[in-house]
Amino acid sequence: MYLTKDIYNNTENFIAEMPKKQRKEYGQFFTVPSTADYMASLASIDYSKQTLSILDAGAGSGVLSAAIVAHIREHGYNGGIELTCYETDPKVLPLLKENLARINDSYRISYTINTENYILSQKFGSPETESLYDLIIGNPPYKKIAKNAEEALAMPEVCYGAPNLYFLFWAMAIHNLKSGGEIVYIIPRSWTSGAYFAKFREYLFSQCVITHLHLFASRDKVFDGESVLQETIIVKVKKTTVRPETVCITSSSTSDFSDVRKFEAPYNVIVSNRQYVFLVTDGEESAALDRLSHLDKTLPSISLPMKTGIVVDFRTREVLRNEPSETTYPLFYSQHIKNGRVIWPVGKEDEYICTDRIGFLQDNTNYLLVKRFTAKEEKRRLQCGIYLQSDHPEYAHISTQNKVNFIKCKTPELAYGLFVLMNSSIYDTYYRILNGSTQVNSTEINNMPVPDIDTITAMGRQLMGQELTVLNCNTIIEQWIR
Ligand SMILES: C[S@@+](CC[C@H](N)C(=O)[O-])C[C@H]1O[C@@H](n2cnc3c(N)ncnc32)[C@H](O)[C@@H]1O
Repeated sequence: MYLTKDIYNNTENFIAEMPKKQRKEYGQFFTVPSTADYMASLASIDYSKQTLSILDAGAGSGVLSAAIVAHIREHGYNGGIELTCYETDPKVLPLLKENLARINDSYRISYTINTENYILSQKFGSPETESLYDLIIGNPPYKKIAKNAEEALAMPEVCYGAPNLYFLFWAMAIHNLKSGGEIVYIIPRSWTSGAYFAKFREYLFSQCVITHLHLFASRDKVFDGESVLQETIIVKVKKTTVRPETVCITSSSTSDFSDVRKFEAPYNVIVSNRQYVFLVTDGEESAALDRLSHLDKTLPSISLPMKTGIVVDFRTREVLRNEPSETTYPLFYSQHIKNGRVIWPVGKEDEYICTDRIGFLQDNTNYLLVKRFTAKEEKRRLQCGIYLQSDHPEYAHISTQNKVNFIKCKTPELAYGLFVLMNSSIYDTYYRILNGSTQVNSTEINNMPVPDIDTITAMGRQLMGQELTVLNCNTIIEQWIR
């Protein structure tokens, strides 16, 4: 602890002198000592080995190296420690050198500083660089790079679109890790879902299992004063294909980890069949996931796909109107979603569309509309409203702005039934666990497990005539999804 604190104090001087813009170029955020020590404490180390080989790629000033070496030595381990650090920023390198010399003074290690680019200096998948390390600890650079950046081109196996350096580091680390070895990483949570990370997740789960996840209740605490926009988590994986029964989940809301809460969640609840990773924080959330995971349908599989609204209003100004005429149709925005229904017109600007272009119009039938954007402080992520053809039978068409998602339904019962799902607490919890951002993506909704069409219709019939409250939806769900 003293060593990590000392090293971090040195680092603070570096941070104060280096403009943030410059550090951003390298994806540089430094781990605070308490987090570094906590990460080191998570490693399960095989102390029977004569030597332990450790990697810290993107080492910065070496705080994670210090934490892991101190942890191992303080445990009483007397064998050899071979530490390899990679760091490319010439400005931080003198500090890293100084700090590694201090670690060596206190704890006797052999170490190498590699100043080459961690991704480009080796070939991903090559047998020569496979199985080098027993343990890898890291806080890799968080930086989105272009899809034709050298690093992206070097690892096409895990890239889809413009990747983030952090998961290229992670994939390379998996490649470098010995079988049975562990990686303890602090990273953003974005890899847990979404298409951009699907190829990476496929690689991850072909080589490793997740054994521990730590979630921070407040993101400001993680990098002390450094505003990191993405929510970060600590993850520990083991290089093996043998799935454990459970994953250890911890969470804390203080920066000194004095209030760590811990529970074990079933592995198949945390890592879904579709290779999404669910970041649950307690048994209640885990139970919610478990309940829905028994359902084997998705919205597209029952021909009810969720899609994104079709009109980008600022690009189609010429066809938007404030007033109705013989040739206008309703255009629904998220502002029209009110108390579970789509209320239109409300006197909003541009709520009529005057066009015959088929690409701008949809059938006037029944829909469930779901807002795509919600504010952080709002209680629910999923906010939806029912629109029925009978609300405005005078129109042949309607249209939707692209800030709402919609599901087209053959019957009013189906629209009500989908409302029961999307307006319930369990689905809101599910979505929230799946996606930490405030956006509601149709891809993710389309991957959520749902009941079959007859059940959804029956739930809808039950809700019709009742108030459209969360409570009523929850009561109906209780009866149908056990
Ligand atoms: C998020 S910082 C973490 C620093 C340190 N590990 C810590 O936890 O405080 C990531 C580090 O990776 C370094 N880096 C960025 N790209 C790199 C690359 N391609 N190869 C090696 N190091 C790199 C940055 O200079 C930065 O110091």
